[in-house]
Amino acid sequence: MNPKITLIALLAGLLAMNNAHAQPYQAALAPFYHGVASGDPMSDRVILWTRITPPTGSSPDSISVCWQVATDTTFQNIVREDNTYAQAAHDYTLHIDADGLQAATYYYYRFSAYDKYSLTGRTKTTPIGAINNVRLAVVSCANYSGGYFLAYERLVNRNDVDAVIHLGDYIYEYSSSSILGGVRPHEPNLEITTLADYRTRHSQYKRDPDLMRLHQNFPFISVWDAHETCNDSWADGAQNHDTATEGPWATRKANGIQAYLEWQPIRQPEPVSDPQRILSGSR
Ligand SMILES: [Fe+2]
Repeated sequence: MNPKITLIALLAGLLAMNNAHAQPYQAALAPFYHGVASGDPMSDRVILWTRITPPTGSSPDSISVCWQVATDTTFQNIVREDNTYAQAAHDYTLHIDADGLQAATYYYYRFSAYDKYSLTGRTKTTPIGAINNVRLAVVSCANYSGGYFLAYERLVNRNDVDAVIHLGDYIYEYSSSSILGGVRPHEPNLEITTLADYRTRHSQYKRDPDLMRLHQNFPFISVWDAHETCNDSWADGAQNHDTATEGPWATRKANGIQAYLEWQPIRQPEPVSDPQRILSGSR
């Protein structure tokens, strides 16, 4: 091939890759750009999650949302449905603790808002009593900036998983230029510290197509590790936190945990209990 044509083809390829790197908002998913998710399954209930993005330029206090749970993919046999509101105070994320379900049963769920339906998700309740087998996929440590989520894709491509156990480091707090990054740019492209930063980072991860499909197909049982706030953290600080330049550790930790609880399909802590305590309920 003519070297000039080769160069042009190469540059076009690189530009296409660059566009692929910026994780897009897929227009066909509007306003549910972050897909759907379920989590913390119990024998009679499961958390259903989504996020509604308001139209550009608007920031209502709340958005009206309908949700449905059915035993079939065409929603002919709806077993639970209701209306609720997604709140700006929770970054328009939604957690429905859908109860009244049968044990060890597949269910399909979806949301509607602004006259549009979300993707349809599939989830499964846990069994009661003794069982012969259970198949759990265990994942952790997925740095978006460090590579592609091929492990998540492999899990989506099999159909025999009862639930996904996520052991944390679901997000990484680094900028794209950290030693572990550089393959795909992080959003925002800086080390995240504020609540807005952590929310933006979760939003980016949730728009990854492999992670979105994994959430759509299987319930998650999740716990955070360090990078949901900051590398190698302990009660009063972290290896990657500098109080002199990044402010009080307690503030940053609270920001990371608030965004995590908003953006994961996880059962929310009871208001009266410790807000930084995981309350899965799965067993
Ligand atoms: Fe890790």
